[in-house]
Amino acid sequence: MDIKVIELNNLVKEILSEERYQHSLAVAECAGMLAARFGLDTHKAELAGLGHDITKEFSAAEQKDYALLHSVYLPDGDDFPQILHGRTAAFFIKEKLNFYDNEVDGAMYKHTTCSEEMNELDKIIFIADGITPRHHLFTAKQQQMLEEFELNRLFYEALKNKINYCLLTGKIIYGAALEWYNKLAVIYKGE
Ligand SMILES: [Fe+2]
Ligand SMILES: [Fe+2]
Repeated sequence: MDIKVIELNNLVKEILSEERYQHSLAVAECAGMLAARFGLDTHKAELAGLGHDITKEFSAAEQKDYALLHSVYLPDGDDFPQILHGRTAAFFIKEKLNFYDNEVDGAMYKHTTCSEEMNELDKIIFIADGITPRHHLFTAKQQQMLEEFELNRLFYEALKNKINYCLLTGKIIYGAALEWYNKLAVIYKGE
């Protein structure tokens, strides 16, 4: 295993609750598998998967203070500070491990905002986060999807999961996420 992956794994394990650490491991594993399937950098996928929620357990006040310290701004960031965790993850990792990668940062950032401009790595992290079940065991149907669906179809499935979750828990849905959803629902005709 790469030294950066080992260091980040140790940091994530130290910072997060056991449940969220297990989630991060599962997202990293799924992201690495998808990156290999789609011919992308598996190392970056694993790093982004491992680190994507590293600041998620900051309190609302800590999240806002940390974002302010690093001049991070997001529309609605004041009202929904937990959205900021995708944005603050890279700053935290840089501070603790002296490691920064633009693509890894972008993928972690967009897992909460679902920017309109998402590259394949961004989508892979979003998919891994949106599809990996809480108990970490994929159903046969999910496994088949991950092995057979093309990237945008997987992205559509993850987006539906995340939008459903936001609706159920009363969280905001970013405009870009809804735009993606509408675009993909037309292509996949509500499948
Ligand atoms: Fe997250
Ligand atoms: Fe997550």
